[in-house]
Amino acid sequence: MCGIVGYHGDSKASDIVYKGLKKLEYRGYDSAGIATAGNPSIKVEKGEGTIQDVSPEKKDGTSGIGHTRWATHGGVNDTNAHPHRDCTGNIAVVHNGIINNYETLKKELKNRGHEFKSETDTEVIPHLLEEQIEKQNSLHEAAEKVAETLDGSYAAVAVLDTREIIAFKNESPLALGVKEDEYFLASDVTPFLEYTDQAIFLEDGEIIKLNGDYKIYQDGEEVDRKPRKIDWDAEEASKEGHNHFMEKEIKEQPQTVKKAAFQDETDMKEAVEMVEEAKTVYLTGCGTASFAASLGAKYLREAEATVVTEQSHELEYRTDEITEDDLVIAVSQSGETADLLATLDDSDAPTLAVVNVVGSTLARQAEHTLFVNAGPEIGVASTKAFTAQIAVLKLLQYALQNELDEGRRSILETAEKLDEVLRKNEGLLEDISTYLTEKDHVFTIGRDKGHEMAQEAALKLKELSYIHVEGFPGGEFKHGNLALIEEGVPVISFMKDAGYEDIVSNTLEAKSRGADIIGVGSDPIDKFRFFIEIPEDPNSEILEIVPFQMIAYLTSVKKDNDPDKPRNLAKSVTVK
Ligand code: M6R
Repeated sequence: MCGIVGYHGDSKASDIVYKGLKKLEYRGYDSAGIATAGNPSIKVEKGEGTIQDVSPEKKDGTSGIGHTRWATHGGVNDTNAHPHRDCTGNIAVVHNGIINNYETLKKELKNRGHEFKSETDTEVIPHLLEEQIEKQNSLHEAAEKVAETLDGSYAAVAVLDTREIIAFKNESPLALGVKEDEYFLASDVTPFLEYTDQAIFLEDGEIIKLNGDYKIYQDGEEVDRKPRKIDWDAEEASKEGHNHFMEKEIKEQPQTVKKAAFQDETDMKEAVEMVEEAKTVYLTGCGTASFAASLGAKYLREAEATVVTEQSHELEYRTDEITEDDLVIAVSQSGETADLLATLDDSDAPTLAVVNVVGSTLARQAEHTLFVNAGPEIGVASTKAFTAQIAVLKLLQYALQNELDEGRRSILETAEKLDEVLRKNEGLLEDISTYLTEKDHVFTIGRDKGHEMAQEAALKLKELSYIHVEGFPGGEFKHGNLALIEEGVPVISFMKDAGYEDIVSNTLEAKSRGADIIGVGSDPIDKFRFFIEIPEDPNSEILEIVPFQMIAYLTSVKKDNDPDKPRNLAKSVTVK
């Protein structure tokens, strides 16, 4: 997690870094800070809160770095905010990742006389750089030595009082944007998209030096790396008049689901071959993406594939059973989720990525990629990426059944209905969200594919409203969970065709014990407190989840939470 930005050019670095950090707040917002070089030394301004809270004064200097933090090592306070400096104050460093051996390094550095201010793992980096710059002939050699010392994941960017910027990475993402004589570094491309669409994604072990130009080194040698065009529109990464990114992203889904359905035929053909050739297909992801993976497993089983699905952080303990004859389908919005990437590293099977972020680590490492084409998703809660993932996995099912064209048409028709589902239920969704603001516990249930719907609706509600919500299969109710039902406890029931009679029974069992029922389905039941009617549709999961994204959003706003930045969370989970 954490977002980092660097700028080296002829404009005011603090302005560009500040704007860039605002775009990266989805990666963490515990604290923030900026360091600029010049006049004559490094200036740092940092503190607890978002970059707006810290509000660094506009500073001189045309070379600078910045950071927005999701705390791992050391509490959330001003001192632990990045950038961190060496003893001389001539080097400032921002870092995304975790240095596993920082305690040993810190002890050694202290023994050699270095003074530490923070509790972070990051602070070892400026002190190590300070030592190596003295010892080595060049800055990139110094950085290489530091990188050799570090064990863990890092994208580290340092600015020196000389205006030079040096950066190096292992496992955590770092992109370089190039615009004539201006250079941008960032955890993803969104901070510099408005200036340039030319980018280089740094590989592990590479070191980049900015000093009037850019130079990339690997194993001591300069390597020739040319920027390539990124086709994400900067406009897509702005709120466009909506109150929050999340609201905008929910409402974009009629278009994004369509974009997801427009997969290139050759790409789909290759994906189909990979599935057909695999002995067993493992579908995996984390959080929302894991529910998409689990739905995908059900879709592919219907197309007669042999499928296993498990969340990546658990599958990691079973990678021994995954052979080169199998296939892993990795589902992710960011393509940077550490638990997912670690599982892929440990598995011998080829990977088919179903991913949103172009140029992400997953997209670059996978044998084959289907991009879900949702565009930048800034709200921490996944919305349009989820429906785009489901659309692509459903399309894969159609393709496996030799029905690619019919499947695409059918998903396009589903997308057409999304607007109507939101518009027709606008007042109802408002009423449900107002009702939920008063509740402390909510249960969501479903059977078959309704189970993933229940899990995803629960996750959306809990992460945004901070209400305790549990999602489980309807059949589990009577095996223990019913004990928690008392007068007025809300139960949200996804009443899909498969197992319809049974989910009706499970729901009524809760109702007769006092639960308030919120039903979802195409067959309205009027004795429930609320019922969200969904049109009959072969891809109904796409339609069923969207009202819950909106309910979660509205509940969050009514509770004065920030829906784009739920507490304690970050968009891109790059630590395990
Ligand atoms: O970027 P990814 O899709 O790999 O992220 C996985 C989860 O962290 C993510 O889906 C998370 O659960 C969502 N932010 C929840 O809305």
